[in-house]
This record gives sequence, C-alpha cells and structure tokens, in this order.
Amino acid sequence: MRTHYCGELNATQIGETVTVCGWVHRRRDHGGVIFLDMRDRLGLLQVVVDPDTEDAFATADRARSEWVMQITGLVRSRPEGTTNADMPTGEIEVLGREVTVLNTADTPPFQLDEHAKVGEEVRLKHRYMDLRRPEMLENLMLRSRVSTFVRNFLANHGFVDTETPILTRATPEGARDYLVPSRVHKGEFFALPQSPQLFKQLLMVAGLDRYFQIAKCFRDEDLRADRQPEFTQIDLEMSFADEASVMDLTESLIRELFQSELQVDLGAFPKMPYAEAMARFGSDKPDLRIPLELVDIKDLMATVDFKVFNQPANDPNGRVSVLKVPGGATISRKEIDDYTKFVGLYGAKGLAWVKVNTLADGIDGLQSPILKFMPDQVVLDLMRRVDAADGDILFFGADSAQVVSDALGALRVKLGHDLGLLTHEWAPLWVVDFPMFEDAGEGQVAALHHPFTAPTVDAETLKARPLDALSRAYDMVLNGTELGGGSIRIHDQAMQEAVFDVLNISPDEQREKFGFLLDALKYGAPPHGGLAFGLDRLVMLMLGAHSIRDVIAFPKTQSATCLLTDAPGEVSQDQLKEVGVRIRKEHAESM
Ligand code: AMO
Ligand code: AMP
Repeated sequence: MRTHYCGELNATQIGETVTVCGWVHRRRDHGGVIFLDMRDRLGLLQVVVDPDTEDAFATADRARSEWVMQITGLVRSRPEGTTNADMPTGEIEVLGREVTVLNTADTPPFQLDEHAKVGEEVRLKHRYMDLRRPEMLENLMLRSRVSTFVRNFLANHGFVDTETPILTRATPEGARDYLVPSRVHKGEFFALPQSPQLFKQLLMVAGLDRYFQIAKCFRDEDLRADRQPEFTQIDLEMSFADEASVMDLTESLIRELFQSELQVDLGAFPKMPYAEAMARFGSDKPDLRIPLELVDIKDLMATVDFKVFNQPANDPNGRVSVLKVPGGATISRKEIDDYTKFVGLYGAKGLAWVKVNTLADGIDGLQSPILKFMPDQVVLDLMRRVDAADGDILFFGADSAQVVSDALGALRVKLGHDLGLLTHEWAPLWVVDFPMFEDAGEGQVAALHHPFTAPTVDAETLKARPLDALSRAYDMVLNGTELGGGSIRIHDQAMQEAVFDVLNISPDEQREKFGFLLDALKYGAPPHGGLAFGLDRLVMLMLGAHSIRDVIAFPKTQSATCLLTDAPGEVSQDQLKEVGVRIRKEHAESM
C-alpha cells in the first residue's frame, strides 16, 4: 500500500513520486492550500494539496485529526524560509496528487501533541491512542531494541532461551502470589510465578549449563513508580559459575548495551559491601550521583541530655546520624517543615537540624532548635566529625537503624534532586556482601534475597547465628534503582534444608512446597548462580522516564487494574461454579 514510511523521507527522494500511509496529525487550511501533517511510526511528514487537483483537494479538505489516509504525490523541497530543522523530514514536503481516506476517526479523546496536560487515567483508558504519540512509540521501539540486543548477546555467549511455566506453584520472592483456580482439581490453585527462580535452577540440574529467558513475572505487592504487578525480567542462570562469572558477564551486557544504544561508556562498576552502602547512604541501592553522605554520631550522642537522641544512641538497634548538606543553610524554615513531613513518610518522628552560619564564632555561629540540649563540647566535636563549614545545614536522624537509614537515605536523594546536586549522568555499582537474613520480629528471620541463595558460612554456623551470616548475593544498581539482583545458589540439599530450618519452615512444609527442589538437589546438582534484571526498569532508566508505565505497552494502574479492558472483572456464577469457587457474602455485597 505504500512505497515509504512518512517519517523516513528526506531530500534524497526529491523528484520521486511516493505513496505513504498514516494518520492525520494535524490539518491546516492556508487560504486555499491544505496542509496535512501525516504521521506514522517513523515520524511526521508535511503534505500539501493544491485546489487544482480537485478530487485530492476535496478529500484533504474533509480529512480530520486521526483519519487514516493514503497519499501519493511528488517529493519536493520546501520553499525557502519554510524548512524545519527540528523535523527529520523538515527539508521536504509531498505535493499530494491522490488522496484516499482509508478510515475515518471520531474526535480523539485527547490531543496527541498536548499530552502533558492529559491525565494518566484518560491515557490508559485509550492506550491505543496514547501509544500513537511519537514519544510513546519511541519508548516501545527502544524496548524492542533492548530485548533484541540482550537476546543476541546472551545467545552469543552460549545461553539457551528456555520457557518456563506460567501456571505453576508458588515461587517465593517476597510478594503475594496471584492465584488461578483449577477447574479439573477443584479447590486447588496454580500460582503465577513471582520469578522463574526454581525452574532455572532445575534447568541447571538438567545440564542446560546456561539458560536465559525474557520472562513475565507476577507479584501481588504494593505498587510504586518503578513497580508493576506484572513485569518482565531478563532472567539468566549459569552452571559451574561463581560470583565473578555472573557479575562480569552481566556487567558486560549492560555496558555494551549502553554503548550501543546510548553511546555511553559506563566504565567498570565499583563494588560496595551492603554494610557500607547502608552506613554511608542509608540505602542498599545508593544513588552515587549525589555527593551527600550520612555520618554516624551514635557515640557522641550517648550521654547528651536529649531523649530523642540518647535513647537510640544507647539502643543496639538504634542509629543516630547526620546528613550534611554543603550550602544548605539557605534552606528556609518552610522548606525544613516540608522535609520534616517528607521524612515522616519513612517513619521519622522529626528532623532536627543545625545551620552553620559562622563556624569561627563557635556555638554562637550556629543556629538550631536542639543545641540547647547538648554540651558545647559535644557540639564542637560534632562539627569536627562532620567537617562542617560555613553555609552548611546538618539534618539529624535518631531512631531505629531502619527508620534512620530509610528516612535520611530518602532525604539524601530528595535533596540531591531539589538542590540540583547531581554530579554526573550515570552511576552504576554492585552492592555485595548482603546479610543472608533480616530480623522479621517475634524471633523470626526472613531471607533478604530469596531462600535459595547460598550463604558464605557452613550450615552449623548459619543455624547458630543466622543474623550474622552473609550471603553470596549481588545487586546491580544504577542511579539509585535496583536494576538486577542475583546470587550463587545452594546446590547442596542439606544446606537448603538448613536454610528452610532457619526460616522456620517445618520439614513437612518443606516437603510439601519445595520437595521437588530438594529431590533435584540430590541427583547431582552442579554449583550454579545467576541474576535477573528488571527489563522495564532498565528501559525506563535508559529513557529517563519517570514511570515504569511509560515503557510498558499496556500497564496496570497504581491500584493494579487495567483501565483499558477493565480488568480484573467479575465472572459469571457458572464460571465460578466450574472452578469450584464461591465469593464470600461480604465481598459479594461490596461488589
Ligand atoms: P528480584 O526479586 O530481585 O530477584 O527481581 C529481579 C529484578 O526484577 C525487577 N523487579 C521488578 N520490576 C518491576 N516491577 C516489580 N514489581 C519488580 N520486582 C522486581 C527489579 C529486580 O532487580 N529470582 C531472582 C533473581 C535471581 O536471584 O536470579 C529475582 O526475581 O529490577
Ligand atoms: P522536640 O523536642 O520533639 O520538639 O524536637 C526537637 C527537634 O528534634 C525538632 O527539630 C524535631 O524535628 C527533632 N526531632 C524529633 N524527633 C526526632 C528524631 N527521631 N530524629 C531526628 N530529629 C528529631
């Protein structure tokens, strides 16, 4: 139906007769001449239709936004002074001679070139229109190029693309499962995979040696700007591999991808232990573009006469830290109030501060609501500890280690953006030496990565002091986002049982839930490890998009619904009966 895409024409086709198809982006009537800006996947093209081609003119005159047209005409230079350097097709136009309407369109629900003012709900409801916008098509096309690059890279490195089941048993990754009732086995349910973790390990037992899959994962969890209930992983696993094998390979993949697509050299990724990341940045995914760090002052605050500080300072699980912001003394009281509210979202009960006006004046050169609670010497020691300088502001966090890290870690990132402190564009790193478990309260521990991750210690040491054990896990972080995570796995059945024991999973439950894995580990499982990247997050970062929804063709809303199809939806009584499910009365009534 066409000889060229609209967006691919340029001066090299001048003098040729071409046929293009596309949508009317804009129609303008310039005193007897009609301009149609035609749009397709590759971009925009200006078409001019003169009244002397009567039929073509009449059709062009009728055309409206988003009508679908076929146009045959002559490519010519635009008249002097009317070229558009911002448009790839800006030097030329097509003089339309034959204009055919392939389909009409109702008035669009929103203007495709004024998207900034359109609410996301409207965009998601009419996603097929939203995706017509050039920047959205660009996003999908980059996503496709990234997938292709990844497939080629991994295939060239001997990885075998293998599909794993979607209807399966629960694979725990720390979220709730999406469940699917079985019609054949009433009262029983499949779980959608939170990741292909167990299957990829079984493929290593099978001898596949190197597996990869661009895999859909499903997690029923609280959504954020970088999380979707249904998302895509670049999932891989390698046999006879240690940490260096997996990290070197996946780092090369990302480096080569950035070089090829963005012409960016990410360099070698530094490695940082988890403990250091938490101490310096309050986060296990630190954004290293921001030149601010936390400084611990627990020892200095142990004896001050200020409960807010001395209590956590004397609590083994407490943390008291300072975030110093050079030049931050200009931050207003109103802004401090806003930052105090912000850290409140992370559980902080306040945000004490000190402005350093003139350090040479000692205590008198400082301004703060909390200095009155501290001996002068402590304050001066504090200034030395954080290497304070005139014009700085110091923010304080005092609470459980978790609250202080979360609150000051998030404040650090927010201040970095608010004050324009970012020092460079890309900051990748590896976070390593994660703890194996975290305290889940009430004497329970939870796996920090997942329970199939190998510890660095033997089973006895692990059982004796689980919270001290480190794991062989690693996360790849880029600009403060966890791009991927993985680990060397347990390939020994006794060790796997030990980890389940520590997690307080009874032997019966171990058998019931993971018997197939424990059995497989008995039949010659090779040492193995792997990693999974979040493909959506990767593309989002490469584009500098603000929301993961902008890189997914048909995403879910923040409340896990699809506005386009209205899913999830009710089903008929017959269908429910068939799968042996009855809706409880209280839910039925609220529906
Ligand atoms: P993990 O749970 O860390 O590891 O997931 C790997 C990567 O997947 C991405 N990701 C998400 N992206 C969008 N929405 C979500 N809800 C979401 N959850 C996770 C992140 C994350 O780094 N089986 C292990 C991997 C392994 O050990 O090999 C796993 O799934 O970018
Ligand atoms: P208060 O004595 O509660 O008025 O607090 C004095 C100052 O300490 C205020 O600036 C509070 O914002 C701050 N503050 C209170 N609790 C904390 C906390 N847990 N961490 C840091 N600062 C706090």
